[in-house]
Amino acid sequence: MKLSIVGSGYVGTTIAACFADLGHDVVNVDIDEDIVDSINAGVAPIHEPGLDELVEQYAGNRLRATTDYDEILDTDATFLALPTPSNEDGSIGLGAMNAAAESLGETLSKKDGYHLVVTKSTVIPTTTEEVIAPRIEAASGKTVGEEFDIGMNPEFLREGTAVEDFLDPDKIVLGANTDRAHETLDAIFDPLVQRADDPAVIKTGIREAEMIKYANNAFLASKISLANDLANICKEFGVDSYEVLEAIGLDSRIGSAFLAAGLGWGGSCFPKDTAAIIAAARSRGYEPRLLQAAVDVNDQQPHRMLELLGDRFDPRGKRVAVLGLSFKPGTDDIRESRAIPLIDALLDAGADVVGYDPVAVESMREKFPSIEYTTTAADALAGADAALVATDWDEFAALDDEFDEMREPIVIDGRRIVTRRDGIDYESLV
Ligand code: UDX
Repeated sequence: MKLSIVGSGYVGTTIAACFADLGHDVVNVDIDEDIVDSINAGVAPIHEPGLDELVEQYAGNRLRATTDYDEILDTDATFLALPTPSNEDGSIGLGAMNAAAESLGETLSKKDGYHLVVTKSTVIPTTTEEVIAPRIEAASGKTVGEEFDIGMNPEFLREGTAVEDFLDPDKIVLGANTDRAHETLDAIFDPLVQRADDPAVIKTGIREAEMIKYANNAFLASKISLANDLANICKEFGVDSYEVLEAIGLDSRIGSAFLAAGLGWGGSCFPKDTAAIIAAARSRGYEPRLLQAAVDVNDQQPHRMLELLGDRFDPRGKRVAVLGLSFKPGTDDIRESRAIPLIDALLDAGADVVGYDPVAVESMREKFPSIEYTTTAADALAGADAALVATDWDEFAALDDEFDEMREPIVIDGRRIVTRRDGIDYESLV
């Protein structure tokens, strides 16, 4: 089929390249000429394992990019994969989505024949039907359910495994307004269903599809927060939380994934999506107590780490190494990284912070330009009065003699990653 993807960010570029790999003819539409040029030159505009190879392989044949919306006219369906940044109150900003819907509508006014518009971005239930579709109708002069249909197909890919997650999903969620839209979505996703390892295909309504994405992320974030809440209780009683969480994960009703207790969750999705669904619930007069508690537990973990440090010494004027700056291992993305509130709290307490990360130093330097950074963990540890571990990079498990160079070998581990050995004063956050 011929597909157009509006928005060439993280999700848009990944799905465009993957749809090309599945045999579709794909055009990426973006307002940023640098991104367009990059894709057309066969270079992925973002770093993601396996993506460069796909973009290189398909650019110029099944994959191309453009700034011209009119190229959509020759396609059967359009996916909207635009950013929905957080507003102050946690709700999502629809500026880019609305602008794209209007441009798409103007383009569709020139199209003869059927078109399907699919929301890929994470949006609050009813947004596709009540915000996006009316804008397309107004700009195109066409009527939803007649000349064009709408659909919603949430994306569950993780950073660092985006291509793999897209091409081998647990489930494919297809929300649509008509049987005709469902048939079109089936035709688009059939090559993926055939190739992937038996994914569940959920055919549902549009607002259900929108909510499935939020429910999925809210559940996973809450699962980690519940693990952290339980692990904090364990610590008060001198109970090994990791043994407890491993044991409960063996109950098939609980499952072992997302039970790694520690400093909590960050990244571009969990914090934003929990805040957005909480704000949406409040806008309808419902107070989501459990979800708010999940956020509160997450906010509290970095401060608990500071309390553990405070039990050893007053951090004022002390050299404190923060090992790991990215929100999770395998990425230089620091968005909502737990290292950020940790560094903020250390600076408030008057500590001299030295940060180390294998790939995220430059991103963090923009956020905290005045703290010291090192190019190795050993350099961060040398002369430090304490080390706080914020990200579970594998290389931290291999640290050994490097701890001997610390002034005080105090290690507080927010991710249970450091290998315990004689000569270090080790404490796990949970
Ligand atoms: C997440 C969802 O997994 C994905 O489905 C969605 O599309 C986008 O959001 P991502 O943000 O890339 O993906 O990272 P993920 O691997 O899910 O980790 C999120 C955060 O939770 C990280 O900060 C990680 O360190 C933390 N985490 C994860 C834990 O603290 N404990 C765990 O057991 C698992």
